[in-house]
Amino acid sequence: MGAILSSLRNTVIASIVLALVLFGLMVSLGITNTEFGMAFWAYAFRLLHVAAGVMWIGLLWYFNFVQIPNMGKIPDEQKPAIGKVIAPAALFYFRWAAMVTLISGLIVAYLQGYLVDALLLGSQTGAAPVIGIGMWIAIIMWFNVWFVIWPNQKKALGIVVVEADVKAKAARTAMLFSRTNTLLSIPMLLCMVGQSHMG
Ligand code: HEM
Repeated sequence: MGAILSSLRNTVIASIVLALVLFGLMVSLGITNTEFGMAFWAYAFRLLHVAAGVMWIGLLWYFNFVQIPNMGKIPDEQKPAIGKVIAPAALFYFRWAAMVTLISGLIVAYLQGYLVDALLLGSQTGAAPVIGIGMWIAIIMWFNVWFVIWPNQKKALGIVVVEADVKAKAARTAMLFSRTNTLLSIPMLLCMVGQSHMG
């Protein structure tokens, strides 16, 4: 057990194996859908989607609830531990989780048969407006991550070297857009969860 838990890679593999064993058990007991058609793939991609979404929004909330509010309490000589080590690692998982969430979400919508209807907010057929609103909010958030937050963070963290005033401006822009995504996160989740459970 120690060999599994002391390695992150092995822990993640063990978690996936455990999920597969549980799924096999649920199938054999007949307590889950046993038709491996389109519904199964929508289920599998929804699982991937929610897992990636948890990673993305979890890190967004880590930045906003933990890292940013506490930076001022860290002595200047210790700040590089965050800026040079923790933040770049967190931003790696943050932006790629955002990408996997977007792609898997679009695949789920396609498999559910409402991708275009949702993106048109149900204006043509009346179908899937709730998830459509959520998808557009999340697409704006994804855009902010890849085209505003990450380029500005690269300057703020010194991955891209710029003048001190440009660096300070980039840090503020990244922070404000990160805050914008935090603002959008709860309305977005309202729609994500609403489609299946309140729509
Ligand atoms: C980035 C663009 C996104 C797209 C295109 C998208 C798309 C979708 C779609 C199509 C569904 C299925 C709705 C249904 O028919 O039940 C869904 C569900 C869901 N999404 Fe997203 N989503 C996105 C972002 C996110 C994010 C950032 C999160 C954060 C965790 C998230 C969390 C969820 C949750 C929790 C569900 C509900 C699953 C269920 O109730 O079965 N989504 N999303």
